[in-house]
Amino acid sequence: MNVRKTLLALALLAAAGVVQAAPNCTVKLKGGDNMQFDQKSVTVSAACKSINFELEHTGKLPVAAMGHNVVVTATADAAGVAKDAIKAGAAASYVPAGDARVLGATKMVGGGESTSVAIAGGKLKAGGDYTFFCSFPGHSALMRGKIVVTP
Ligand code: CU
Repeated sequence: MNVRKTLLALALLAAAGVVQAAPNCTVKLKGGDNMQFDQKSVTVSAACKSINFELEHTGKLPVAAMGHNVVVTATADAAGVAKDAIKAGAAASYVPAGDARVLGATKMVGGGESTSVAIAGGKLKAGGDYTFFCSFPGHSALMRGKIVVTP
């Protein structure tokens, strides 16, 4: 085999490796009528200028019965925010207004709808302990996952 071609192939493989190692700045979550997200853990990079959390509600039920959103907090704040979200009520889309513990939150969507929220990468510290969850009443116990933050 031609040595030059082999070297070129190796260089291309190396370049592909660099692309794969690029920081992940987009999280795509799906949630359905089974009250579950399709992922229990996601990985993002604190180096991202902005981190986009996208949610697709793959179910059929309306927002009032089976609404889903994505709320991002430090893991230590998740339970408190979930509790206050219920107090905030449906009119506030179950997100406490002006709450500094909420690092980001999408709107609440029903079956067949999608939504997203962008969070500045600098809000999440590499190696920190963060959680994403749905703040619809009764959902956060099941609909939650870990956010792994890489540098
Ligand atoms: Cu939900």
